[in-house]
Amino acid sequence: MADRITLRVTRYRPESETEPVMREYEIPLRKEWSVLDGLNHVKDHLDGTLSYRWSCRMGVCGSCGMTVDGEPKLTCATFLGDYAPGPVRVEPLSNFPVVRDLVVDIGDFMNKLPRVKPWIIRSEGEEPAGREYPQLPAEREEYERFSMCINCMLCYAACPVYGIDQEFIGPAAIALAQRYNLDSRDQGAAERMDVLSAAEGIWACTFVGECSAVCPKDVDPAGAIQRYKFTAAMESLRAFLLPRGSR
Ligand code: SF4
Ligand code: FES
Repeated sequence: MADRITLRVTRYRPESETEPVMREYEIPLRKEWSVLDGLNHVKDHLDGTLSYRWSCRMGVCGSCGMTVDGEPKLTCATFLGDYAPGPVRVEPLSNFPVVRDLVVDIGDFMNKLPRVKPWIIRSEGEEPAGREYPQLPAEREEYERFSMCINCMLCYAACPVYGIDQEFIGPAAIALAQRYNLDSRDQGAAERMDVLSAAEGIWACTFVGECSAVCPKDVDPAGAIQRYKFTAAMESLRAFLLPRGSR
């Protein structure tokens, strides 16, 4: 394996430049280095003005998502050696406005998230006698997969529907709604139904499945959407067949 590799990195300051340009940086190629380590080398030794986000360096915080050789990736969990001999293209996540260089604005997701009420909702007067809501391990397993989301936005960057229609509430928000809908302690599914079953909710999804393919936490948002489509269809059928008052 060669001991150097070239990073081709997007540089862009939207407030003063008309379009992004690619800059090349030659860096050491070390077996244990992630793409994020490579960017940190650029920042520390070659060009301190490069902007990008990261925090944990261990696939937990979800802030280091970028497009690596055309695919949305967590750069702290993507290794330079897998792209040898290079060059490796590093670009911002698609489908989001660029703030600067590799930093994108995820405000759209942050505004949508509260609409699906990703918290436990209880009916009035239904609080448990003690301070805890008991739950069996089997009940926890029902929603566990959907609870692993780290809000990294790779699924939005990969989603062709979100790419053309930013009204779509999107994969992670729907998976998080399902995380609470499937929680035995929650009673808020009816409240979430209005948002999820609207045109820009689950029905906008055309089941391309890229969201699940790129998810680094195996959340399977595409599966959550298909499961919820079935629930919503059964609810509509029930409402149509059963007289009001017996539902
Ligand atoms: S569902 Fe997966 S890809 Fe989407 S934000 Fe959550 S962890 Fe990231
Ligand atoms: S730096 Fe936290 S997930 Fe990569």
